[in-house]
Amino acid sequence: MWGMSRLFSPLDLRALTLANRVQVSPMCQYSAVDGGMGDWHLMHLGSLALSGAGVLMVEATAVVPEGRITNACLGLHTDAQAEALARVRAFCRSHSPIAVGVQLAHAGRKASAQCPWDGGRPVPPGEGGWAVVGPSAVPYTSGWPTPRELSHAELHEVREAFVAATHRADAAGIDLIEVHAAHGYLLSTFLSPFSNLRTDEYGGSREHRMRFPLEVFEAMRRAWPAHKPMGVRIHGSDWVEGGWTVDDAAAFAGALKALGCDYVTVSSGGVISKAPITAGPGYQVPLAAAVRRATGITTCAVGLITTGPQAEAILADESADQVAIARAMLFNPHWAWQAAAALGADWVAPPQYERATPQMWPGARRTS
Ligand SMILES: Cc1cc2nc3c(=O)[nH]c(=O)nc-3n(C[C@H](O)[C@H](O)[C@H](O)COP(=O)(O)O)c2cc1C
Repeated sequence: MWGMSRLFSPLDLRALTLANRVQVSPMCQYSAVDGGMGDWHLMHLGSLALSGAGVLMVEATAVVPEGRITNACLGLHTDAQAEALARVRAFCRSHSPIAVGVQLAHAGRKASAQCPWDGGRPVPPGEGGWAVVGPSAVPYTSGWPTPRELSHAELHEVREAFVAATHRADAAGIDLIEVHAAHGYLLSTFLSPFSNLRTDEYGGSREHRMRFPLEVFEAMRRAWPAHKPMGVRIHGSDWVEGGWTVDDAAAFAGALKALGCDYVTVSSGGVISKAPITAGPGYQVPLAAAVRRATGITTCAVGLITTGPQAEAILADESADQVAIARAMLFNPHWAWQAAAALGADWVAPPQYERATPQMWPGARRTS
């Protein structure tokens, strides 16, 4: 049956075969307990493990405490956090075949903020916050702190922290990892000429600005088991003249591919506050399509993809190989079941929910 739907056809990433091409997009929950997963995550990720998606990507998870967006964000810099992740991952997998990935991140100059529901404003040191770091001493926007420019020794420490978190993710039984290099967080601020004003080998030309994110990826890839896949959420555009462009994103994806990157998810924005982004259905799909065309790398599209037929069309015209669904998945945690039903494809539901299949609702068809 799945042969009719590209969305519900399997996707091979190294030794991992995803049952279909739907990814539960990483989504911060601001609900960590000492940087680790508690019962909220058990419920939240447990419910999304039954979404019918091929892969469940755990939210941005910081590799060092100062890399958290808020003090309620997840980290993976202690063994206790890895144990909490292992518990939730084992719970999900005991009830679902879904692959479980984790997105490893450093928030850079956008760290030390309030939770969105408290306003999302920066929190200064002394009021529960901490000093932020970045490639250069350039604040995100007015009212935000000026980051301290990372020294070479600190760059080495950040890279090693990404590697240590990689080892912890493996020990926790995680199937794939994703590096967060988008949305104005640390690695994407190295890429953009607006946030990276360095004059050393990590700034200046595009090749220099890509150097640190590529070094981080390379070190993590060496630490991550060869049979397990690893991807990157990349910065697709600053959306501002003179900034990072989709051509730059394609060059970055090509360099990642050469280092053994298995897929990229193409997102955009977040470096420049109030960039003129016109969000509409599938608004970032053209970025994904351009990166895919230029590099041939397995590409995931994200951003206002909300229905099965829309996702199917994106794959059918070869704009992408996979789609990540965020808000629509929170709204309907069985999004992939509904998409499969709309596309006439099969999906896997646990036996307890078998009678939810619309074909098994005798008498449900309305005649008026
Ligand atoms: C509540 C929430 C939390 C998010 N957290 C993350 C995150 O941790 N990492 C990330 O790369 N993107 C994050 N995003 C962005 C989404 O993954 C996605 O790229 C964006 O919402 C656009 O997709 P959508 O239109 O399907 O929601 C978050 C989005 C939402 C709504």
